[in-house]
Amino acid sequence: MDYGAPLRDYWISRAAKHTDDSYAGVPQSKFPEDLRVYEHLIWCSRADAVIELGTHRGGSALWFRDRLASLGKYWSAPPPSVISVDLDTAPASERLDATDPAWSESITLVRGDVLDPDLPRQVASFLRPDARCLVVEDAAHVYETTWAALVGFAGFVEPAGFLVVEDGCVDIEELRLSDDWPRGVLPAIRDWLGGPAGKEWIVREDLQLYGVTCHPGGYLQRRVRDTR
Ligand SMILES: C[S@@+](CC[C@H](N)C(=O)[O-])C[C@H]1O[C@@H](n2cnc3c(N)ncnc32)[C@H](O)[C@@H]1O
Repeated sequence: MDYGAPLRDYWISRAAKHTDDSYAGVPQSKFPEDLRVYEHLIWCSRADAVIELGTHRGGSALWFRDRLASLGKYWSAPPPSVISVDLDTAPASERLDATDPAWSESITLVRGDVLDPDLPRQVASFLRPDARCLVVEDAAHVYETTWAALVGFAGFVEPAGFLVVEDGCVDIEELRLSDDWPRGVLPAIRDWLGGPAGKEWIVREDLQLYGVTCHPGGYLQRRVRDTR
């Protein structure tokens, strides 16, 4: 490694690598630093379910399932449950079959559109009523899908739980790798936080623990209700 290389070169190489990575043989696109933060979020919120918007090829759904299963042993959590939504779930089911033939016992792939106002109802039908959800928004990274995810899925998170809006890096000029990257994640978060539902949430920039993240401004925590 060239420690004298400019920081942007480092970012470019890391961003390129993360789209060419895998977990247990299944393609997955996440920085290790962000995965490590997710472990902290699962641990401190005692999440036992993940709602993932944007499955792609399934590696992240498998990773979340395995982390819920491993960490949940320490507090006797119920069996892990991952509900993962994509416009097309076939690429993920093929790859999951190859790694874990029993994946469908704990991972539910939902073919659907984040923009569909009925999607939250469909997702809810796959969850235990008492599920403690971590919500991960990793779909199209444009304003409309980010907004729809926040409106439709924030309510699944308990007080003190987390909703992570991924890839706010698309809205930071220095972090954009190409002109065809989408835009609109950070404006959607800002607008939603400024509305009535957003008042219940805080941005946890302190959880960008490792200096590099694809999700600047995206680690959102639901406030604990003041019962005084
Ligand atoms: C960045 S990839 C997800 C990567 C995956 N979560 C991972 O970490 O490996 C984004 C996915 O979102 C899906 N997507 C895009 N727009 C969507 C929408 N409106 N509703 C549901 N899924 C969408 C795409 O089909 C694509 O598979």
